[in-house]
Amino acid sequence: MNADGRTRLNQTPEWTALGRHREELGEVRLRELFAADPGRGAGYTVQVGDLRIDYSKNLVTDETLRLLRELAAATDVFGLRDAMFRGEKINVTEDRAVLHTALRAPADAVVEVDGENVVPEVHAVLERMSGFAGRVRSGEWTGHTGRRIRNVVNIGIGGSDLGPAMAYEALRAFTDRSLTFRFVSNVDGADLHEAVQGLDPAETLFVVASKTFTTIETITNATSARGWLLDGFGGDEKAVARHFVALSTNAEKVAGFGIDTANMFEFWDWVGGRYSFDSAIGLSLMIAIGPDRFRELLDGFHLVDEHFRTAPAEANAPLLLGLLGIWYGNFHDAQSHAVLPYSHYLSKFTAYLQQLDMESNGKSVDREGRQVDWQTGPVVWGTPGTNGQHAYYQLIHQGTKLIPADFIGFAEPAAELSTELKAQHDLLMANFFAQTQALAFGKTPEEVRAEGVPQELVAHKTFRGNHPTTTILARELTPSVLGQLIALYEHKVFVQGAVWNIDSFDQWGVELGKVLAKRVEPALTEGTEVPGLDASTIALVAKYRELRGR
Ligand code: F6P
Repeated sequence: MNADGRTRLNQTPEWTALGRHREELGEVRLRELFAADPGRGAGYTVQVGDLRIDYSKNLVTDETLRLLRELAAATDVFGLRDAMFRGEKINVTEDRAVLHTALRAPADAVVEVDGENVVPEVHAVLERMSGFAGRVRSGEWTGHTGRRIRNVVNIGIGGSDLGPAMAYEALRAFTDRSLTFRFVSNVDGADLHEAVQGLDPAETLFVVASKTFTTIETITNATSARGWLLDGFGGDEKAVARHFVALSTNAEKVAGFGIDTANMFEFWDWVGGRYSFDSAIGLSLMIAIGPDRFRELLDGFHLVDEHFRTAPAEANAPLLLGLLGIWYGNFHDAQSHAVLPYSHYLSKFTAYLQQLDMESNGKSVDREGRQVDWQTGPVVWGTPGTNGQHAYYQLIHQGTKLIPADFIGFAEPAAELSTELKAQHDLLMANFFAQTQALAFGKTPEEVRAEGVPQELVAHKTFRGNHPTTTILARELTPSVLGQLIALYEHKVFVQGAVWNIDSFDQWGVELGKVLAKRVEPALTEGTEVPGLDASTIALVAKYRELRGR
């Protein structure tokens, strides 16, 4: 029994019913499901905004979906959803509200935290961001010597990097090409070194993005960037004000670092790092695509927020995607989930989703702090098609693992491509459609034999098929569509966390490594003996020092 009086997840009748259903279904074949229901392709589809989501190639029947929805009802997913939208402190271990949805709410919406409507503040910051972004884009905001800014370097890590870096790539076709954007995250000095290659300090703006403004990687890189800038200005400290802005919740630390808080764009502790790129953390992106396009992105998010908040369970896309993941992770022992965008512009999308999903649902205790005895978040992975086809798809097609996958594709190539390059789009998308077909239906030994393949190769050339995929298709990758896609995944992750009864909004698991790194550093630099260091690490550190000639 849970503290709130609810039965433990895997002891609920709904969970048991799903387990039984899984046994009864056995090796259900997609070939048979499609043969039995000619309307399956169109029927197992949901349209959300611009996203057409086809889930027909999943190992589910109407009964499976009904039982999954009953599990969602029993675990009160929609109750927790409503509590999130209402601003209740559903991040229980940090005692915080979870209100990234307020970041994209229209100006006249009312979302209260501790009795105060936060929407006016959100829009006030958006206004300031728009003003600043507009000034940089027009050349009105100049550097210390009066030259216009041509390069923007975003320094941040995790949620303060992955979102803006991913979205900048995704929306490159909408960016101001006269400006250069670079994203520095790794504390490996090579990252900053490469990022500033060829840049003139007089034309470079550093955007230091950190919710806490204490993250060691970001502060270290920002300090080095400051050094690089000052070197370019003969040590003139006054230059910093025109070349550094901060995005943070922590004004005190920003001021302590030496950035004028007049050049700080704020957000709030009810915005989680991995849910923050539509807050002030999106400033670099806003400079790149302009405030109007940024608003379109926010409206895309909001459209899916509203869908998630209001659509009935049968037609609720994030609910559906979340439940499908539960079906595979908890009832088919799938360990991972592939996200395969057929768009070069989405090259960083899966890396972004890794933090969103794995930092949110990589938990093994429930909201009451007890060990869960059911699987939680999957390993999320993938890279854009068609590249993946020539690398790891072999394992998805013929390996021994069940890997559910999302295929994301677009009908239109980017408008600015040449006619010749646009013509390649059909080939890209032919691969997109062919892969989900091959994964679902495979090729039987009989079909292989009928092609005249010698008997000794038949097993090798047989495709088992029955690999589940979900297809997400939109007309074009626009700012709004990107917002819709991200919100879809945000809420999918939410649904899964709600069913598993875990806190999807904390991230205590990243703390231990941070603490140990601080402790180990003097052993590397000074050779200091660190109490409690294990024998393996002591030997490795000694070797490291030897290799560095210390
Ligand atoms: O990895 C832990 C984490 O706290 C993430 O959740 C966050 O996105 C990242 O570090 C960066 O944090 P900050 O924005 O405070 O620098």
